[in-house]
Amino acid sequence: MASSPLCPLLLPLLLSSILLLNRPVKCDNEDDNLLRGINSYRASLNLAALSKNDDAECLAGEIADQFKGQPCTNTTGSNTVPGTEPQFAGYPNLLAKCHLNVSNTQDGVIMPACVPKLEPSLVLTNFTGSQYSGNLNDTKYVGAGIGSEDNWIVVVLTTNTSTGSFTPSNAASVVSRIGLIFHLLFLLMGYIFLL
Ligand SMILES: *[C@@H]1O[C@H](CO)[C@@H](O)[C@H](O)[C@H]1NC(C)=O
Ligand SMILES: *[C@@H]1O[C@H](CO)[C@@H](O)[C@H](O)[C@H]1NC(C)=O
Ligand SMILES: *[C@@H]1O[C@H](CO)[C@@H](O)[C@H](O)[C@H]1NC(C)=O
Repeated sequence: MASSPLCPLLLPLLLSSILLLNRPVKCDNEDDNLLRGINSYRASLNLAALSKNDDAECLAGEIADQFKGQPCTNTTGSNTVPGTEPQFAGYPNLLAKCHLNVSNTQDGVIMPACVPKLEPSLVLTNFTGSQYSGNLNDTKYVGAGIGSEDNWIVVVLTTNTSTGSFTPSNAASVVSRIGLIFHLLFLLMGYIFLL
């Protein structure tokens, strides 16, 4: 079996598919730009930089996905009067998709904005120049996750308290990751035995 010409190809393929599983497929330049912009804004106020939170980023992506296709109006995004933001349909399901639940996210804040073509300079001022700035300059937030989908970009801020950490139970995320890796290993073993 070791002499099969396919074997040298399989291992790199397997490794790269494991790596890919941990990364969003989408290119996230706007998202990274915005985090850098927000952190310079915080630096200008002598506040610590927000660190990237993967599960908050997952939730931000799911919420951006909900807004996808909706036009920018003054009842959506950062032009909304605070408190009138519509509740997200199926919010608990979105949380569950990201291994989160209400108890580890309730102190966080979700800030959607709609900017045609996500024009970078407008995107940043939609956060730093709107009512959202009151959250961005708040020392209680320590992490952020950003997701975008066509004209929509969503920032989720996290705290360092257990009720806003966006840290899923280790069990949930580790189990799903290990499950995927085993799945691939079994596929590979099955393949080798077939050869
Ligand atoms: C937010 O973006 C919109 C475009 O959707 C723009 O018209 C508005 O001026 C921006 N608001 C701020 C505060 O930058
Ligand atoms: C934070 O932002 C809010 C709203 O823009 C403002 O009223 C407040 O003075 C700011 N605080 C600091 C420390 O910059
Ligand atoms: C949320 O997740 C935590 C940690 O996994 C768990 O202890 C808690 O019971 C869950 N809460 C709800 C409301 O599901």
